[in-house]
Amino acid sequence: MDFKPTVLGSLMLIAVSVVNADDGQKIYTQGGALPAATACFACHGADGMGMPAAGFPRLAGLSAGYLSKQLADFRSGSRVSPVMQPLAKALSESEIQAVTSTLAAMPAPTTPHVTRNTTPTEPGAGLALRGAWDRQIPECVMCHGPGGVGVGTAFPPLAGQSANYLVGQLNAWRDGTRHNDPNDLMGHIAKSLTPDEIKAVADYFATLGSQEAKP
Ligand code: HEC
Ligand code: HEC
Repeated sequence: MDFKPTVLGSLMLIAVSVVNADDGQKIYTQGGALPAATACFACHGADGMGMPAAGFPRLAGLSAGYLSKQLADFRSGSRVSPVMQPLAKALSESEIQAVTSTLAAMPAPTTPHVTRNTTPTEPGAGLALRGAWDRQIPECVMCHGPGGVGVGTAFPPLAGQSANYLVGQLNAWRDGTRHNDPNDLMGHIAKSLTPDEIKAVADYFATLGSQEAKP
C-alpha cells in the first residue's frame, strides 16, 4: 500500500508551490491573502520611499532581515503601532518573506558619503559623528554606518528617513512603546538624549537623505 504516501507527497508538492507562488510585488501593490493585510504602497509609496509628512517610513532598500524582524516585532507587540500591528498579524510567514525580499531589492535613495573625519558644524552632526561619550552616547554612525546608510541586517539606514519618523521612533524608545532591541542599545541612547538633541540628530539624517546634504 504505497498509495497514501504518494498522495501525501503530491499534496506537499502542491503546498510548497503555493508557498513559492507568493509574489512580493503583488503583496506590496495589492495586499496579502487576508483582507486585513492591506496594500503597502498606499502608505509606503509606490517607490517605497514612504510619506514623510504622514510619518510613514521608507522601506525601499532596507535589508530583508531588518524588515522581517520589524514585522515579527509588530506581531509580538514589542513594537507598538495601531496601524502596523494588525497588518503584520494578517501576513503569513511566506508573505513576509516575499514582500521583504521585494522591498530589499527596491532602489534606495542616493545619499552622500560622509566620512567620520568630517568636522561637525552643528549639534545634530556632532551627535551623529562624535556622540556624547561623557553621557555614554556613542556616535550614531558607529552602528548605522558612514552617512547613516545602514549596515548589514541589524542596523537600519537613518539617512533617507524623514525627521518626523526618526523623532517618532526615538520617542517610542523613550516611552517604551518600542522595546524590540535585544540589548536595549537604542533604548539607552534614546533615553539619554534631550528632546532638542533628538530633533537635531533627526534633522541631520533626514537632510542627508535629500541630495543637498551638508556635513
Ligand atoms: C495605513 C498605512 C500603512 C500601510 C497600509 C502599511 N504600513 Fe507599514 N508602516 C506604517 C506606519 C505608520 C509605520 C510606522 C510605525 C511606527 O510608528 O512604528 C510603518 C512601519 C513599517 C515597517 C517598519 C519600518 C522600519 O524602518 O522600521 C515595516 C517593515 C512596514 N511598515 C511594512 C509594511 C508592509 C510590508 C506593508 C504591506 C503589507 C505595510 N507596511 C503597510 C503604515 C502603513
Ligand atoms: C551600538 C549600536 C547603535 C548605535 C551607536 C546607534 N544605534 Fe540606532 N539602532 C541600532 C539598532 C540595532 C537598531 C535596530 C533595532 C531593531 O531591531 O529594531 C537601531 C535603530 C534605530 C532607529 C530606528 C530606525 C527605523 O527604521 O525604524 C533609529 C531612529 C535610530 N536607531 C537612531 C539612532 C541615533 C539617532 C543614534 C545616535 C544618537 C543611534 N541610533 C545610534 C543600533 C545603534
